[in-house]
Amino acid sequence: MPNQHPVKIAPAQGKLGVLIPGIGAVATTFIAGLEAVKRGIGQPIGSLTQLATIRLGKRTDNRSPQIKDFVPLAGLDDLVCGGWDIFEDSAYEAAMKAQVLEASLIEQVREPLSAIRPMQAVFDQEYVKRLHGTHVKTAGSKLDKAHALMDDIARFRRDNGCARLVTIWCGSTEVFHRPAAVHQTLAAFEQGLRDNDPEIAPSQIYAYASLMSGVPFANGAPNLTHDIPALLDLARERQLPVCGKDFKTGQTFMKTLLAPGLKARMLGLNGWFSTNILGNRDGEVLDDPGSFKSKEETKLSVLDTILQPQLYPGLYGKYFHSVRINYYPPRGDSKEGWDNIDIFGWLGYPMQIKVDFLCRDSILAAPIVLDLVLLLDLAQRAGMKGIQEWLSFYFKAPMTAPGLYAEHDIFIQLMKLKNTLRWMRGEDLITHLGLEYYD
Ligand SMILES: NC(=O)c1ccc[n+]([C@@H]2O[C@H](COP(=O)([O-])OP(=O)(O)OC[C@H]3O[C@@H](n4cnc5c(N)ncnc54)[C@H](O)[C@@H]3O)[C@@H](O)[C@H]2O)c1
Repeated sequence: MPNQHPVKIAPAQGKLGVLIPGIGAVATTFIAGLEAVKRGIGQPIGSLTQLATIRLGKRTDNRSPQIKDFVPLAGLDDLVCGGWDIFEDSAYEAAMKAQVLEASLIEQVREPLSAIRPMQAVFDQEYVKRLHGTHVKTAGSKLDKAHALMDDIARFRRDNGCARLVTIWCGSTEVFHRPAAVHQTLAAFEQGLRDNDPEIAPSQIYAYASLMSGVPFANGAPNLTHDIPALLDLARERQLPVCGKDFKTGQTFMKTLLAPGLKARMLGLNGWFSTNILGNRDGEVLDDPGSFKSKEETKLSVLDTILQPQLYPGLYGKYFHSVRINYYPPRGDSKEGWDNIDIFGWLGYPMQIKVDFLCRDSILAAPIVLDLVLLLDLAQRAGMKGIQEWLSFYFKAPMTAPGLYAEHDIFIQLMKLKNTLRWMRGEDLITHLGLEYYD
């Protein structure tokens, strides 16, 4: 029984448009998967919104509904996808080229995928050095391009009869940039758009256009994008929820499973060496040092916040952490990631852990896209605005309020996510104290 006031949540009526800058491996694996699930030829494995349950009340209450029955989420049949890319390939052609899914599966959803033709992208070679796109908007200033994106969004909304929209960046990783003066206020940002300020990245133009169009925004890549005061102010001003950055899949997912376990048992760490081979377009883009730097920053930040060396200098004060990504075309999207972890235990005795994860990046990322789309839309209907820290669960570099360190431990992130859903519905938060069972 709810014992607090539930949050007022508008019903999920009508179509939900999913706008995706970057119709590449992740986006097409998500879209093809969505169509396969709708047709009953695939299961949405990896998706909390589709598969997970949520415990309510005491363990003895036996109340564990599915998340999708507990909170009002948009139905999969109500999702319509579209997006932008610097190449003209339809989602069908892009899915075939990405080679994540078998051709026989893609053929079964050929019709809806072929109908998704990317709109012309906003692109800047300085931000993604390895790609040379032709399907791009060239006319005018950055502000004109933002307006062109807003027109695209309005047209998509109208043509598809969407009641609501969500934008999720699945574009290539942009070159590493630190926040600059132009990112500090909305006025400075808009002036920068007019002046074609080189510090404004294409992903920031999409985020601006999306927020100006009243559309929540999520960032699946490590780029700075909307993690700047100008765009966060805009999100709050327009009452829009936002989240990012960088989908937590593959090696970092493993890291956030293992590191909390080592710390929970107070085992020390001397070093963590992570290396990868991957051969998809993402790997090619990350072969550029500027794009890799963006990735490296998000991948490296994880361990420090989990292990808290400042609190445990003897265990975690001196570990060596290194992350490498090697572009190796023969593997395509089937990445292999190795971790060598040097730990120490009782009396300082050393031990080693080796992880060899033969993972499929986009197979792990697709359910994250689905969940983020549905949960961001839920957040908007629940009147939540600005950074959605409860969605940290899905990100390598979760966005937080200024001055607040990010929570990387996946189990804390999961508790935060589920407690937020309980809070929305006026249910008791679960603290796992459990003394009441022994009174
Ligand atoms: N696959 C994963 O598990 C995973 C995990 C975390 C983050 N990511 C990030 O997600 C993003 C997508 O990954 P992917 O494997 O699909 O890569 P991809 O290279 O297959 O797809 C990216 C697409 O973005 C397009 N693009 C580049 N700049 C653009 C722009 N300005 N506007 C519109 N389109 C643009 C490219 O042409 C390409 O089709 C990357 O940034 C990647 O780092 C992926």
